[in-house]
Amino acid sequence: MRDFIKGLPKAELHLHIEGTLEPELMFELAHKNGVDLPFDSIAELRAAYEFDDLQSFLGIYYQGAAALITEDDFAALMRAYLARAVADGVVRAEVFFDPQTHMERGIEIGTVIGGLRKAMDDFADSISTGLILCFLRHLSPDDAVATFEAARPYLNDIIGVGLDSSEIGNPPERFVAAFDLAREAGLRLVAHAGEEAAPEYVWSALDNLGAERIDHGVQSEKDPELVQHLVDKQVPLTMCPLSNQKLQVFPDIRDHNLRRLLERGVKVTINSDDPAYFGGYIVDNYVAVAEALDLSRDQMVQVAENSIEASFVGEDRKVKMLDGLRAYVAGVPVRD
Ligand code: HPA
Ligand code: ZN
Repeated sequence: MRDFIKGLPKAELHLHIEGTLEPELMFELAHKNGVDLPFDSIAELRAAYEFDDLQSFLGIYYQGAAALITEDDFAALMRAYLARAVADGVVRAEVFFDPQTHMERGIEIGTVIGGLRKAMDDFADSISTGLILCFLRHLSPDDAVATFEAARPYLNDIIGVGLDSSEIGNPPERFVAAFDLAREAGLRLVAHAGEEAAPEYVWSALDNLGAERIDHGVQSEKDPELVQHLVDKQVPLTMCPLSNQKLQVFPDIRDHNLRRLLERGVKVTINSDDPAYFGGYIVDNYVAVAEALDLSRDQMVQVAENSIEASFVGEDRKVKMLDGLRAYVAGVPVRD
């Protein structure tokens, strides 16, 4: 099954580039840059990867990002991820980055975007990519607007904006101004909602921000009217099962609602969120749910198809990717 999933053409739509920073690269960059990490060894760092909830993860995640300083650091980070994504059958990656995490440390947004873009250009022949700038919701709405203004010279390098970080207590409607600016600039809109917080946050992301996709969205199931809306409007949910398990949203992955929502007709996708911290890249996420929830081969194919359809890639390329997916499925015997 793993080989079948690995070869399946798919899109990754929920991936924080800072969350792909493996301990080895983190220590290498910290050493090179003279950055003091609050961990003495890779083993000590890995031992700290036991999370109670989203907040307990975010603390370590922001500490780790401090190792990234130069344009080359950001390029190295993106290259490592893209090499892995290509090997995992990802044909399209829409990658989140958190500029405020770096700007707070005095790093120019152009350094971040420049490095990420350089690596994306290097991989242009093997994978289609786009960058999504995420606003940190634990910071103020004004900070989000200022961040968008700082990004203005680089808008050709990004395809959209998103919203991440500490969800509970920081509802989507706080960020209407920043999202309005992004919409006026012609960017695509996504938002984390319903990861830990109530379905009202998902409604708000849809109604107030105009989000076209919901990142996570697993709490939507608590509101049948919302589930019906997601089905009717075919709003994609970018789910991340290993993340949900590690952050205790579904401590037992067998309780995950991905299969129920998929069978209810929601446009569900599978993604890796912060793979260096949650113990698995995209194929690991597919395999984990396929095994835990006993997904059929058709359901795995459906999820991969959903991911390409839900991506923001241009229509011509999307059609080619979907053709590639169908050709792959037709070419692999049902019992592989
Ligand atoms: N949720 C919110 N913020 C994040 C996440 C997440 O899953 N990953 C990185 N930042
Ligand atoms: Zn996320």
